[in-house]
Amino acid sequence: MNKSKKIKNRKTPISNNAKKSQSDTDTDTATKPGTTAFKMFKSQTSIYSIGFLLLCLFFFINSGSSIKFTKPLKTKLDYNYPPENMTNGSSKNLSALFFENGTQVPKVMYVPQVSQADKLDYQAINIITGRDIKDVDIKSGSLLSPLLVARPVGSEAHSKVNSFLSSKLKEYGMEVTYDNFTESTVVGKKEFSNIIATSKNLGSAGIGKRLVLCAHYDSKILKTGDFVGATDSSVPVAIILSAVQMLSEIGVDLSPNSVQVLFFDGEEAFKDWTSKDSLYGSRHLASKMDSLKDPSLSSLGYNITQLEMIDLFLLLDLIGASNPSFYNINPASSNPTTSSIQDNSYSLLAKIEADLYDLGFLKKKFLNPFNSFSPFGKIDDDHRPFAERNVPILHIISTPFPKVWHTLDDNAENLDQYTVNHFTLLIRAFVLAFLDIHI
Ligand SMILES: *[C@@H]1O[C@H](CO)[C@@H](O)[C@H](O)[C@H]1NC(C)=O
Ligand SMILES: *[C@@H]1O[C@H](CO)[C@@H](O)[C@H](O)[C@H]1NC(C)=O
Ligand SMILES: *[C@@H]1O[C@H](CO)[C@@H](O)[C@H](O)[C@H]1NC(C)=O
Ligand SMILES: *[C@@H]1O[C@H](CO)[C@@H](O)[C@H](O)[C@H]1NC(C)=O
Ligand SMILES: *[C@@H]1O[C@H](CO)[C@@H](O)[C@H](O)[C@H]1NC(C)=O
Ligand SMILES: *[C@@H]1O[C@H](CO)[C@@H](O)[C@H](O)[C@H]1NC(C)=O
Repeated sequence: MNKSKKIKNRKTPISNNAKKSQSDTDTDTATKPGTTAFKMFKSQTSIYSIGFLLLCLFFFINSGSSIKFTKPLKTKLDYNYPPENMTNGSSKNLSALFFENGTQVPKVMYVPQVSQADKLDYQAINIITGRDIKDVDIKSGSLLSPLLVARPVGSEAHSKVNSFLSSKLKEYGMEVTYDNFTESTVVGKKEFSNIIATSKNLGSAGIGKRLVLCAHYDSKILKTGDFVGATDSSVPVAIILSAVQMLSEIGVDLSPNSVQVLFFDGEEAFKDWTSKDSLYGSRHLASKMDSLKDPSLSSLGYNITQLEMIDLFLLLDLIGASNPSFYNINPASSNPTTSSIQDNSYSLLAKIEADLYDLGFLKKKFLNPFNSFSPFGKIDDDHRPFAERNVPILHIISTPFPKVWHTLDDNAENLDQYTVNHFTLLIRAFVLAFLDIHI
């Protein structure tokens, strides 16, 4: 039950004081558009200001309904396709995916650009998310409530959550498969089930960019009682479901790009965190994906592993407590392309957060915008088995960890609705930016 088991090589100890002063300085900043209106409402209760607000509300609702999200758009996206028109800035270079004369030509990875954020229609994103925010309500959200239960490996609740996640992903049009396996652990043999969901594409499946959204769905066993792990990782899982829900609602054809969801099992240690007692699911799946050819591509004659398909592995963890802070803690890579993908992805996420804040859609900024500064050293998590195989990582985990981390208080009562909404909006916008989807 010591924090050091999850944080390796931490340079600075995290004290409660450090946590407190950090969140105090990070969050209370200047006036935002949203709060100005609220203050005006509080101080001048004249009939005029109420009338004005109602008028604004009317226009806001009206502008929303004119975007007709209730009907799927079914847009065929305008990609640089067919492949001969692809450039390294837009997608993988197809000719680089072939095995020629028994030698693999290195593929060209997609390096996201921070300027992609400038093309997003934040107004539209905010309206979509605003409409669906009830799904991540901490008391009754249809995507979150079913996850706010103790669900240790092997329990009935764990199996119910597994079915819930699978059925939601299928409902959103994803192809769902499992990586089920039995492994000896420090407490005997256990059965695990990773969930893998991939967007369905026809023909050109996966030839373009592949964004992989990841979180773990098991919860830790605590001797003291039923540990829910609301931030660890019910909320991250719900945020990912919500992003996939958005893609299904806007009804966009992603091909030749694709989205994959990996919900890992057995992230938590059964006893104390060690390299063997932890990350059961991600270690198993990374090793498997490293040798499995991607089925959608092998039928087209491309010899490429499922791991090589991944342009970005976005891992969410420990999200949902109030006033968190985030740094670019992505693992260093000796491969310069991997490093730029990681750094650019972090910068893109921070830019989107800053833009949403400047436009008044977000009230706070939680991401430290600088790329090169992290006082918290390395954090061991489900990304490690993938990072070790040179998969580009974007690891979004609050540092310092939430105060409730690995205590019975990490439950629904201690979630912060604002923070949950904040990340739901932010991750939805990031998915759109990364895949160049314009609504
Ligand atoms: C691809 O390039 C060719 C020739 O350069 C051009 O005629 C064609 O319109 C391009 N296709 C797309 C989809 O951009
Ligand atoms: C694609 O890759 C091949 C071989 O790596 C290269 O010769 C070609 O110029 C590339 N095409 C584009 C559009 O980048
Ligand atoms: C990709 O494009 C950039 C400029 O847009 C260039 O500097 C870089 O060398 C290109 N990389 C490859 C692998 O072609
Ligand atoms: C194999 O190598 C030869 C000679 O370098 C080259 O001409 C050819 O295009 C390569 N590819 C295949 C599929 O044979
Ligand atoms: C894998 O395990 C899950 C959860 O127990 C189960 O629902 C699913 O049917 C299993 N799939 C396979 C292919 O065994
Ligand atoms: C595909 O790649 C593997 C190495 O990853 C190689 O052993 C195998 O021969 C290749 N298959 C074909 C058909 O090129």
